[in-house]
Amino acid sequence: MNNNILIIGASGQIGTELALYLRKRYPEAQIVASDIKEGIPELVENTTFELLDATDTDQVLNILKKYNINTVYIMAAMLSAVAEKVPMKAWDLNMTILLNILNIAKTHSDLKLFWPSSIAVFGKTTPKNAKQYTITEPNTVYGISKLSGERWCEYFKNNYNVDIRTIRYPGIISWKVAAGGGTTDYAVDIFYKALEQNNYECFLRKDSKLPMMYMDDALKATTDIMAHKEFKNYIPYNVAAMSFTPEDLAHAIRKERPDFSISYAPDSRQQIADTWPASFDDDYARQDWNWNHQFDIDSMTKEMLFHLNKKMTI
Ligand code: SER
Repeated sequence: MNNNILIIGASGQIGTELALYLRKRYPEAQIVASDIKEGIPELVENTTFELLDATDTDQVLNILKKYNINTVYIMAAMLSAVAEKVPMKAWDLNMTILLNILNIAKTHSDLKLFWPSSIAVFGKTTPKNAKQYTITEPNTVYGISKLSGERWCEYFKNNYNVDIRTIRYPGIISWKVAAGGGTTDYAVDIFYKALEQNNYECFLRKDSKLPMMYMDDALKATTDIMAHKEFKNYIPYNVAAMSFTPEDLAHAIRKERPDFSISYAPDSRQQIADTWPASFDDDYARQDWNWNHQFDIDSMTKEMLFHLNKKMTI
């Protein structure tokens, strides 16, 4: 069977690394990376890169046909903090891209889809350790779009037999491409500032505990769930790795860089963080498709400092 993979939103934080990871994991596959904006040179050199506005159904259809695509990763979305500034635009963008592909998949039964959800589906009424099945009353437009998206995915799976798979990402920490517009981004920014100036002013409170994951684990989770045989039911799987506060992270950085200091100036992103759980329970993912994380706060911190240091001195 052919293996022609399209990544939508391939120039973003996760999309870029996902495309490069798929290139390595499936050397025989055709990897088509697409985004509304150009990606980093490493991405463009190692994949077939296409400029694509995924809100335009015809453009998506053309690419699917041109490359005989059978797998699509839908990674384009507006994240939580920036979405709060333009709620209607965020809703429109996040839902249009997903619904476009779902409607295409209705009549293209050979398509296999991945669409990520988020810890943002939880809200103030969710217990601070969120189980797979718990109260989901999101308080942000990003969370509302993710929860609605999950419901649409299940609807298309049940009613039209669309093979779509979802995991709920925690905050994703990585060094290759900057994160943009999220509430968990402090856990990326802090490493740049630690290396540049040995201190960081954090936009969340020191005790604001959130679930997080290192990029390598996120890539493994994303591609493992897609490599699994078709699931009977649609489950937007929680996938957890670690949970920490800004203070915990500063402490982990200090083990590597003892002079590092941190100060706190919470802004509007604190209100978003306050609605999310401190940790979430991923028993279903571990049981159903053997999900397992590798990186904890200390090993992630070491990797981040090592790779960013190399990147910043080139
Ligand atoms: N990292 C995302 C955000 O902060 C959560 O999925 O918006």
